[in-house]
Amino acid sequence: MRGTAFLFMITAIVFVLLGMAWGIEMSVRADFKMTPAHAHLNLIGFVIGAVFALYFVVTPQADGGLAKALYALWAVTTVLMVVGIYMAVSQQGEGLAKIASLLGVLTMLMFGWIVLKNGIGRTEA
Ligand code: HEM
Repeated sequence: MRGTAFLFMITAIVFVLLGMAWGIEMSVRADFKMTPAHAHLNLIGFVIGAVFALYFVVTPQADGGLAKALYALWAVTTVLMVVGIYMAVSQQGEGLAKIASLLGVLTMLMFGWIVLKNGIGRTEA
């Protein structure tokens, strides 16, 4: 299966591998300042991405243009959230983290809309 579900899952795996490497790096340096950025990379990048992937597997009729738009919004939100938190924690400004937070809410609203429109589970033909 190579639809939007596959895109979500592959990207989520890339995000969590980066997040795990970052976790190991923090442990090796015994410097846990960036824990919030690591946590959001793994939670928004992997947990939410994998949940979205599984939704589109069980609800194939929801795949399409809106699903692709959700994928783009979620991927951009994850990157901006991690960079934004990194900047906020290293005292370089909170603007990006604030924008990413709003994009995060928008991502969930778009997912909610898709679920309301398509339900959960395959539609009987
Ligand atoms: C190789 C895998 C991983 C390593 C080495 C790692 C390492 C770490 C480290 C060193 C911390 C900081 C702990 C502290 O501040 O005392 C941390 C925090 C955290 N990690 Fe990971 N992590 C890994 C995978 C994950 C995954 C897969 C997730 C989520 C799906 C995750 C979510 C979190 C969260 C939520 C926190 C914050 C916990 C808190 O502040 O109480 N991590 N991790």
